[in-house]
Amino acid sequence: MTTPKKVVLLGATGSIGSSTLRVLRAHSDRLQLVGVAAQSRHNELAAICREFDVSHAVLQDEKAYLRALQAGHFPATTQLSSGTEALTELATLAEADIVLVAVVGVAGLRPTLAAIEAGKDIALANKELLVLGGAHVIKAAKRKGVRLLPTDSEHNAIFQCLQGYPSEQVDKLILTASGGQFRDTPEKELAVVTPEMATKHPNWSMGPKITVDSATMANKGLELIEAHWLFGLEPDHLEVVIHTQSLVHSFVQFIDGSILAQVSPPDMTFAIQHCLLFPERAPSVTPSIDFHKAFSLDFSPPEYAKYPCLQLAYNALRIGDAAPAIFNAANEVAVERFLAKEISYLDIPKLIEYSLTQIVSPLSPSLDQLFQIDTETRDVAQAHNP
Ligand SMILES: NC(=O)c1ccc[n+]([C@@H]2O[C@H](COP(=O)([O-])OP(=O)(O)OC[C@H]3O[C@@H](n4cnc5c(N)ncnc54)[C@H](OP(=O)(O)O)[C@@H]3O)[C@@H](O)[C@H]2O)c1
Repeated sequence: MTTPKKVVLLGATGSIGSSTLRVLRAHSDRLQLVGVAAQSRHNELAAICREFDVSHAVLQDEKAYLRALQAGHFPATTQLSSGTEALTELATLAEADIVLVAVVGVAGLRPTLAAIEAGKDIALANKELLVLGGAHVIKAAKRKGVRLLPTDSEHNAIFQCLQGYPSEQVDKLILTASGGQFRDTPEKELAVVTPEMATKHPNWSMGPKITVDSATMANKGLELIEAHWLFGLEPDHLEVVIHTQSLVHSFVQFIDGSILAQVSPPDMTFAIQHCLLFPERAPSVTPSIDFHKAFSLDFSPPEYAKYPCLQLAYNALRIGDAAPAIFNAANEVAVERFLAKEISYLDIPKLIEYSLTQIVSPLSPSLDQLFQIDTETRDVAQAHNP
């Protein structure tokens, strides 16, 4: 019997975090949770530490940490700490073999770089950190020879299809997109979309930010940028197709015209398990597709006029340097302001476009410059009324 792989889970209390816990429960003989982090939900994090007997935990938020100490609900065997440094220390924990990065936003970037420097394999669900610092992350991972295992379902699908093929044989990556909740809504009706309407996804169960991003297809835009960094393909070799059933998670087209796809139900446990056990496989925690029942697969090209955020992401990727970071930060602020009912649904792309024209990007920005541009963009997007 082999020793279990030791896992650190950053973002344990979130949507990806809870899917990861399902995988860990099912494969406790192969995977052991040794570290967990969350922002502020201390009750949930304490429950995870009790269930999985976790030795190290971080609550990023200081107040939540103090509340947790008062409540005394973490087991005595869990070493609990707080703050940015603590998150980085957790990501570099000596006993960890693999770090699953499932925190939201760019907060995951520095801990991920530290984990790479410490030689840990990385399972990457967080897309924002690659959009901001892709050049730095890929360079560090190559230098250290660590595995960067894509956990986002589309990228995991591509990763699976690419196994055994050299990059010269790849012509295109075709990312599938559900088209979001307004794919059948006429363009002129989008003006009246409310946050309540935009936070209900037809196929996936996810948090509000990513659900709105699915509706606008800003999420697919972020994924295009993520695919560029993970697989080294330029924008002309990255395509998007609308696939309403969310069963085919992406395609790889080879230079001879053959196309491979990865297919599984719309449930993140498939991609998470693939990354955590890679290169091994084991029975899934969720039943797979049943071919004894009839079903259809539909594909259609996206209407760019209906999804301006997607076109803006392509533009940002083509501009390069800090443009993807500006796209990401402006989109985050725009979605927050839309959810707070400060701006309309159709203002989201306007705010991104405005921010892209306002911020000057340096050539090959350093990490510090990227973080500075991220902050600057947020200020611009917060202050502007589209
Ligand atoms: N949900 C999906 O199906 C899906 C699919 C593909 C990719 N992704 C990507 O995966 C990432 C996570 O998504 P999610 O949907 O799981 O998000 P989520 O449900 O909002 O969960 C975020 C997790 O990160 C923690 N967190 C947030 N900021 C943190 C910080 N500064 N330090 C430490 N922990 C922090 C949260 O803790 P608290 O609970 O205490 O706030 C929570 O555990 C995102 O980048 C998303 O784009 C998600």
